[in-house]
Amino acid sequence: MSTVFVLNGPNLNLLGTREPAIYGSTTLADIEALCRTEAGKHGLSVDFRQSNLEGVLVDWIHEAGRAFAAGTLKGVVFNAGAYTHTSLALADATKATGIPLVEVHISNVHAREPVRHHSFLSPVARGIIVGFGPLGYALGIAALASLTA
Ligand code: DQA
Repeated sequence: MSTVFVLNGPNLNLLGTREPAIYGSTTLADIEALCRTEAGKHGLSVDFRQSNLEGVLVDWIHEAGRAFAAGTLKGVVFNAGAYTHTSLALADATKATGIPLVEVHISNVHAREPVRHHSFLSPVARGIIVGFGPLGYALGIAALASLTA
């Protein structure tokens, strides 16, 4: 069975209590369950992770690249949190591996502060899903499942 990595960056472990007016009351554990349900519909398994550390996320992208090269990974759904707007390293890692990556944001970052309008990941992402809340993760998995190459 092919796998999808679902990677989450800083502060997403706080979902449920973090700024509920923006992010809602869904917890990261709820999102993991939602991802497993969606992946199951497509015959995919999920490797779901969260880290507050940029270097750990870089290492996970590298790991995803090795799995993709080995033919065991369909792609990555990535909510990089604030690193989206700051991390050239995560963009470089994504580009270096050539993995299909869907950039996901719970909130509509383009309707928020200007600093959130720029993403280092968007140019190297296969696609981008913003503003649909936790559903965006499921949409990202469905999008990866639909890829043939
Ligand atoms: C976020 C949007 C980012 O701007 C923010 O830093 C986050 C969450 C989202 O899912 O809406 O941590 O990625």
